[in-house]
Amino acid sequence: MTLSIPDRNLALELIRVTETAAIAAAPWVGRGEKNLADLAAVDAMRQMINTVDMNGVVVIGEGEKDQAPMLHNGELVGNKLGPNCDVAVDPIDGTSLTANGMNGAISVIALAPRGTMFKPDSSFYMNKIVTGPEASKVIDLRASTAENIAAVAHAKKLPINDITVVVLNRPRHDELISQIRKAGARIRLIQDGDVAAAIETARPDTGIDILMGIGGSPEGVITAAAMICLGGAIQGQLFVDGKPSGPILQTHDLINSEDVFVAVTGITDGELVRGVRYTPYGAISHSIVMRGKSKTVREIKTEHYLR
Ligand code: FBP
Repeated sequence: MTLSIPDRNLALELIRVTETAAIAAAPWVGRGEKNLADLAAVDAMRQMINTVDMNGVVVIGEGEKDQAPMLHNGELVGNKLGPNCDVAVDPIDGTSLTANGMNGAISVIALAPRGTMFKPDSSFYMNKIVTGPEASKVIDLRASTAENIAAVAHAKKLPINDITVVVLNRPRHDELISQIRKAGARIRLIQDGDVAAAIETARPDTGIDILMGIGGSPEGVITAAAMICLGGAIQGQLFVDGKPSGPILQTHDLINSEDVFVAVTGITDGELVRGVRYTPYGAISHSIVMRGKSKTVREIKTEHYLR
């Protein structure tokens, strides 16, 4: 079995997948119907993904957590004309953000050679620390919150009080939030959507340095794909029944290849990408597409003629 996706750049094909899902989700922004938004994005993504030149199998298909519509784990995707791939999809990361018209909802897909993606199975939660390239070698999930913040600040040559940590706003993070404040760093609380937030740690000018805390494990695997492309790092440990479970997983334990592709399109506005905008003729979408092998990152604004 070959563990390499041929050199052909699948990136532009993948962006059509997330664009289609984001445009299908956009009419549901602010309508208070998270499952209908998800269903629209899942259906659109499923149709478009099957036009991509790959022999894909969905390894990370989100949805089991809350019985939401989903692309199922094990589902075969692609037109079977291309390489054997593992596929991670999240047609909407931030279904509640979408339903409430709040910032930070994206559509995302990641691809890696077959057999290289970690399967979290039924473990929905993962404790994560994520940061960008400057500090990728200094984070350590075993170290204290204060030690990690100090290490990142040192690596980025910034004072600790210039460091911003992004954290999901959940009661389970009360202790983490107070540790971050005691350490002297700033906090950005987000309601949902930790994939976009994690990617922001590795993009210039977002004002985000570290992501910490417990979020979805499928999102952790997708984050690993993005970190491989951007030179950042994630460390994660599954969280089962409120307790850490299993080993600490490094970026390449989550995806064991450099040969990855990631595409992201904004549904609502965010630091990473803008959301879908309507025009008299259709819509405008904003996406990022990246490739692990070449480390190419493309930002793409697309005008869609829909009327
Ligand atoms: P959905 O869009 O599937 O609802 O996920 C949103 C999200 O905020 C993820 O970004 C995050 O990893 C996870 O949910 C956190 O889970 P929980 O809401 O149960 O704390």
